[in-house]
Amino acid sequence: MTQSAYWNRIAAQAQAEDRPFFSLAPMEAVTGSVFRRVVMRAAAPDNFYTEFTNALSITHPKAKVTTRGRLYIDPSETPKPIVQLWGNSGEDFAKAAKEVQRQGYEAIDINMGCPDMAVIKNHSGSDLIRHFDTAKAVIDGARQADLPVSVKTRLGFDHLEEYETWIPFLLKQQVPVLTVHVRTRAEMSKVPAHYDLIDQLVQMRDTLAPDTLLQINGDIPDYQAGIKLATEHPGVDGIMIGRGIFTNPYAFEKVPQAHTSHDLLELLRYQLDLYDQFVAMGIQGHFAPLQRFFKIYVRGMRGAAEIRNALMQTQTTAEVRTIIDQLEAEN
Ligand SMILES: Cc1cc2nc3c(=O)[nH]c(=O)nc-3n(C[C@H](O)[C@H](O)[C@H](O)COP(=O)(O)O)c2cc1C
Repeated sequence: MTQSAYWNRIAAQAQAEDRPFFSLAPMEAVTGSVFRRVVMRAAAPDNFYTEFTNALSITHPKAKVTTRGRLYIDPSETPKPIVQLWGNSGEDFAKAAKEVQRQGYEAIDINMGCPDMAVIKNHSGSDLIRHFDTAKAVIDGARQADLPVSVKTRLGFDHLEEYETWIPFLLKQQVPVLTVHVRTRAEMSKVPAHYDLIDQLVQMRDTLAPDTLLQINGDIPDYQAGIKLATEHPGVDGIMIGRGIFTNPYAFEKVPQAHTSHDLLELLRYQLDLYDQFVAMGIQGHFAPLQRFFKIYVRGMRGAAEIRNALMQTQTTAEVRTIIDQLEAEN
């Protein structure tokens, strides 16, 4: 595969239908293989990302076992997810890139936006926004494997104006895709996303790296909102949606359908089945606690709060199924 064949394929699909491409955002303890397949079934985006995975851990003799769950790709996943890595050393990224390639990944994304203090103290994630040299070293390191290397970042670390130097710096690295969560690290997700800066980002891209695809992220709830944003800002190639999926598991549906409680509970059943299969494979490692997902499926149901409370008390998938069966029998 050439450096950006992966992304060219995604972009070509999107252009064929005259729309931006859509991605489910990387989300720690959420976008593992199980939930990616749930979203695939509900309404698939063009693109999926893994949860972020520490580059050093991937090849570390003691830690690598902990990354197996995060890095697992099911054969039914098409296209293969993009693996998102975080870290602070070109050497770690070079080793990790070769290992994820060996495991079958076709594209790598580097996290340069995580606001978590532990990650920042590790000189990783959004800390790279104030250390251009490290940012360059990790991109160069990740490029040691023969895979395309993209970046997901924020506009700045403390101050909005930082985007004026940070984004051009990243564009000059000629990454195939630059995903920008249009907020600073300091803003976390507490202020509205800076859509007013999108046209400037497009202009920077057009000037410095016309081949780089620009993907916008932040507060975009669903496909329709993504189309609207991309129409208002010509030149945006991709739309990434994160938390929208918690409000609506059908967020990527092109023509919104009415979904019944039964549809939602069927999706939950599917997630439980996949979860059981995953556990049965005996892969040791991080796996999202199921409980954080329950609210997605009971939202809007009569007595949603009580149902959710009951689900939160469960300890096994069998107990969850019993509650779902009761709910369906009552309706
Ligand atoms: C639970 C959770 C976990 C996240 N984990 C990651 C991650 O592993 N890597 C990453 O780049 N961003 C991560 N993010 C940030 C999202 O990818 C996204 O940038 C952010 O939520 C803004 O997009 P949204 O408004 O569509 O949610 C996470 C966000 C949430 C809510």
